[in-house]
Parts: sequence; C-alpha cells; structure tokens
Amino acid sequence: MSKIPVIIDCDPGVDDSYAIALANSWPEYDIVAITPVEGNVPAAVTRKNALCLREMLDIDCRVGFGAETPLVKPYARDAAGTHGVSGVGSVVFPDPRLGPDEKPAWEVIYEEAVKADGKLLLFAVGPLTNIATALRLHPDLPKYINKFCIMGGGTVGNIRETNRTAEFNIWVDPLAAKEVFEKLEVYMVGCNACYLSEIKGSEFDEMIALCGDNPKAYLVRELSVFSKKNSLENGHDNNIIYDALAVASMIDPEVVKYEDYYVYVEDRNDVINEGQTVVDLDRTSGKEPNCHVAMGVDKERFVAMLKDMCRFYAAK
Ligand code: BDR
Ligand code: CA
Repeated sequence: MSKIPVIIDCDPGVDDSYAIALANSWPEYDIVAITPVEGNVPAAVTRKNALCLREMLDIDCRVGFGAETPLVKPYARDAAGTHGVSGVGSVVFPDPRLGPDEKPAWEVIYEEAVKADGKLLLFAVGPLTNIATALRLHPDLPKYINKFCIMGGGTVGNIRETNRTAEFNIWVDPLAAKEVFEKLEVYMVGCNACYLSEIKGSEFDEMIALCGDNPKAYLVRELSVFSKKNSLENGHDNNIIYDALAVASMIDPEVVKYEDYYVYVEDRNDVINEGQTVVDLDRTSGKEPNCHVAMGVDKERFVAMLKDMCRFYAAK
C-alpha cells in the first residue's frame, strides 16, 4: 500500500512536537517534509527544534526553513511562557547532525506537493506565514493538495491580553491566515474543539507509564511529564495538546466532527477582534460555506490514539 505523503508546517512547540510524533507513528503516513515558521518561539529556535525532532524520531524527510517574521505584522510576542524558552519544555535534544534543505519552506512545500500529485496531506499548526508565501509564489499549489488541516482559529480564541476572540496562530500573522483561507479549503481545528480535548494529569501519567524507559520513547515521555507539570504549576489538572488534535482528526475521522461554515479572517489591527476566524455559525452571511470547522471531539478516542502513540515508541 502506498503511504500518504504528509508535510507538517509548524512552530515547535510542545504540542507541535506531539503532532509530529503522532503523525510519524501512523503507519499510513509518510512525512516528507517539516517546515518550521516563527511562532511559539523565535524562528531560530523552531528551526533548531525541527532539525532535532527529525533526528530524534528517525524521520527521513526534508526540513525547509520558513519565515522569521509574519508577512507584515511585527513578530511581537512568543509563547515561551507555555512552551519554555527552548520551545519544547523540559526536552533536551542532542545537537542535530544534519542541516536544513537548501530550499526554503515554501519551495519545499510546492515541490513535494507537485511530487505527491494531488495526494498531499498538508498540516499547518503554527502561524500561516509559510503557507501564504507558498500560495503567493505558486498560485497553482491548491490543485496538488488533497487535504489541508490547520490548528488555528476556531469559534473562540485564546489571546488573553487583547481579546479572547483570536487564537494565537492566526493572531501572530492575520494577513497570512486571511490569504490562506481565501485560497485553500481549510479543515480548521480551533480552540473550541481543542478545549473539548483537555488531557487530565492522570491521563498523562498513563501515557508516561506506557512509554516505559525505551530511549525511543524519550520525546513523548518527556513532553508528557512537562505538560502535566506545567498545567499543575498553572493551577489546573489538565493540559491541551492542540496541534496533535489536528493530526488525530485526519488519522481517524471519528475523533473530530467537522461542520461546514463560511469563515473569514479579520486581519485589521485597529479592531478588538484582530486575528479572529469569524465563523458564520447561524448562517446569516448569505455566503457559501468555505471551511470545515471542528465542532465536536471524541476525547476518549483521542486519548486512546495518544496512548497507542506511546506504545509505538515504547516498542521501537
Ligand atoms: C496554538 O498556539 C501554539 O501555542 C500551539 O503550538 C498551538 O499551535 C494554540 O493556540
Ligand atoms: Ca503550534
């Protein structure tokens, strides 16, 4: 059986790392590229993490470095408070042996999309700068993509200082998101869905136990140790592995229930909802649906998949 070619555009990132690990554990997926972008931590750090993740997970793929800054908005704020200054919590990587691809992210994405000839599964779980750039440079990119799934946006947001209507990935680069939503059919796993998938401390404990002490399971074990500890330190007994939910939704269609709505991205910076993915929930816009919006989550199925991932690495 030929595998499904997969690209993961990301800003690793604790949950990005889980997302890559999950995709790598799924036997039907062939990760052909990882393309880091600015986001959770500055691009220099997401780039290093992408190189390290490729090696730690034994993934044979290209790593194409992406954007350092959003299209026009300054890169004003990272999420190191959540992910640690290293971006990957308490995970410690050996220095990577291999360097990046000679081509930038947007060329790697396009080349691999053409090669995949309509079968590409493209995930974007960070700000959408790389994807928007690829679409600007290669307007025919959409015809080579089978499915495009993001973690970003949603019917509610998580940017707390300014407003709660925008989600971090979209808020970092709203113009990129706006362009991407106008050009691609998006499967959007947003905050509203992720909030239905909170992992409890006891579930992290079960994942940690399943990883055992195999060094091949170090990454998912340490991510789980950090995620549990981090949430407890912040006063709650749960944590959200946002980006992995997007991957899970494509592996098993029962995990996430999508509904079709018209969605646009508010990219102006003089409004309180800058970066919001505005979802026409009551269908009053008169516009045709253009987005598959994640609305429901089978959390038990998601947790079962995460546990299978731990078993996969423990048995390597
Ligand atoms: C998203 O923002 C980042 O902090 C996470 O990696 C995830 O992609 C959640 O809003
Ligand atoms: Ca991310």
